[in-house]
Amino acid sequence: MIREQLEKIKNQALSELISAENEAALEELRVKVLGKKSELSSVLRGMGQLSAEERPVVGALANEVRAAVENALAERREIIMKKIGDAKLAAERIDVTMPGKAQRRGNRHPLGIVEYEMAEIFRTMGFDIVEGPEVEYDYYNFQALNIPENHPARDTQDTFYITDNILLRSQTSGVQVHVMEQTPPPIRIVSPGRVYRSDAVDATHSPNFHQMEGLVIDKGITMGDLRGQLLMFAQRMFGEDTKIRFRPHHFPFTEPSAEVDISCFACGGKGCRICKGEGWIEILGCGMVHPNVLQMSGIDPEIYTGFAFGVGIERVTLFRYAIDDMRLLYENDVRFLRQFR
Ligand code: DAH
Repeated sequence: MIREQLEKIKNQALSELISAENEAALEELRVKVLGKKSELSSVLRGMGQLSAEERPVVGALANEVRAAVENALAERREIIMKKIGDAKLAAERIDVTMPGKAQRRGNRHPLGIVEYEMAEIFRTMGFDIVEGPEVEYDYYNFQALNIPENHPARDTQDTFYITDNILLRSQTSGVQVHVMEQTPPPIRIVSPGRVYRSDAVDATHSPNFHQMEGLVIDKGITMGDLRGQLLMFAQRMFGEDTKIRFRPHHFPFTEPSAEVDISCFACGGKGCRICKGEGWIEILGCGMVHPNVLQMSGIDPEIYTGFAFGVGIERVTLFRYAIDDMRLLYENDVRFLRQFR
């Protein structure tokens, strides 16, 4: 009797299983057939009334039924999962032969490209790259660079004042002072960044532009080191055949000071449109750091010497790409900017 009952339970479960179409239906069936309140459980509970010989036989049969139902449930579950997966794949099918939407690739601004290349040249020569504040104290922008109040050099760098002693920096040279105050020598840094001057916009002027400052301080640094360093830079930036030329100049924070020209990379020095027939192009100011500047920043000029330089990034960019009007760099006309990849 019990055998038939068990057999019936199994057959019924297996036939109901086939119509289960999802996981919830399967679970319901599992509880119904194998759960505590199931017919199978009540059969098992009734086993106490069986004789000692019958009990193990029926017990084994009950276990068989349970195992068969569990297996069938697992199989059915796999079939259902596969069906769901297949349906999902079919629904999300992508036609890979459809024409794609062209992705427009962005590119860096030419100034960013040149700034990066310049910094990279110095970085590979062992310079650290540091940044300084664009909003600056008069002290860092002028006084600590040996440009006291009322010094005529201030007139050539008229800038935007926020208060009497806070201004938008007119040059990156102030970063020299921050670095010297914070770092004991040896120092080897470049510092690219934005600077401001109260200039009217034209083909070669803009109220804000970019410079890269360089500073090297150690024992025994000479003008020969400066020259070698700048020659290396010029040749990496503009080509191996580039020559440089020092012209004496005056900057309050260096002594001696010079302006540096590079041989025109377009004509090699013969004279052309880009160098305006000169054969040379001015690219930076430099010099040996003035002892007063070292002293004010807490570095003993009897022990240390150093050189500094300041390059206009716009200038380098204009020459590099033979652009003849600086305004093009700021107008954000993508037809222009897209050319620099
Ligand atoms: N700060 C100068 C300028 O804006 C450029 C310059 C000249 C920087 C000589 C220097 C330097 O560090 O030594 O015109």
